[in-house]
Amino acid sequence: MSSLDNYRYVNLFRPRGRILQIEVSVPDRLNALSRGVLDDLEKAFQYAFSDQETHAILLSGAGEKAFVAGADIKELSKLSAQEGKILSERGQSLFQQIEDSSKPVLCAVQGYALGGGAELAMACHLRVGSEDIRVGQPEINLGTLPGYGGTQRLPRLIGLTKATELLLTGDTLDGKGALHYGWLNKLVPRGSLIEESLSLLEKIVKKSPLAVREILRCLRASQTGDAYAIEAESFASLCDSYDFKEGTCAFLEKRSPSFQGR
Ligand code: CAA
Repeated sequence: MSSLDNYRYVNLFRPRGRILQIEVSVPDRLNALSRGVLDDLEKAFQYAFSDQETHAILLSGAGEKAFVAGADIKELSKLSAQEGKILSERGQSLFQQIEDSSKPVLCAVQGYALGGGAELAMACHLRVGSEDIRVGQPEINLGTLPGYGGTQRLPRLIGLTKATELLLTGDTLDGKGALHYGWLNKLVPRGSLIEESLSLLEKIVKKSPLAVREILRCLRASQTGDAYAIEAESFASLCDSYDFKEGTCAFLEKRSPSFQGR
């Protein structure tokens, strides 16, 4: 595997000729998506999109425990409504660039893929997960909602019925559940996650890149962006609420939240 330039929170590898691996790496925070991580991810994806040698992208998370455990709750806990709107639109825009990629993007998911981590995985075209995964949108437990496209992509992937339940309860899916509801393309043993992900991408990079590009274009043609604006507005308004401050503080102070409906 050849190594390329690294960013502060994101590593780049070339595990196979035409495949670029983008690895999120924030070991002490379970790869949580701070603003700095979003910036590095954007730079890495821009590089991947423009690099002629890259025909497919593998997105992964460093470490054993998590792909990405969500947006960085420490940062979220201090957001005003206006800052929340800017952050939500920032994440939405980056994740839309990933979904709009003309090169296939596959996410290799191990351990926790929660909140913004699940939203990041759902913005990819394909998802391979290991048997230890826990996937979900626990934002409701913090008194907020998925602000990086999750309210739109989750029902699209797994259907409105199960998505409504998961969004309102914060419950998670295990590997079998994620496969059953169509969140995952493939469930594999932990030790073979990267190999299985690469072999799926290798199958695709042998096809015509033009046909791959046009199929991806057709797949996203039916998806319009209007509802994302509502999501960013709702996320912003919750940033100003007592309950959201209470939810994020309770997480950081390792206690249960006491919500008051204001
Ligand atoms: N943000 C910031 N820090 C996080 C984090 C996050 N999303 N997830 C974990 N961490 C930190 C923990 O605070 C902890 O730090 P310290 O060692 O300094 O205490 C460290 O990572 C290890 O985590 P835990 O000790 O909590 O590990 P655990 O094994 O006991 O639990 C977990 C793992 C169940 C994933 C738990 O960490 C957890 O519940 N994390 C938060 C998940 C979450 O709510 N994600 C949604 C975030 S909101 C969001 O994403 C909004 C949006 O869409 C824009």
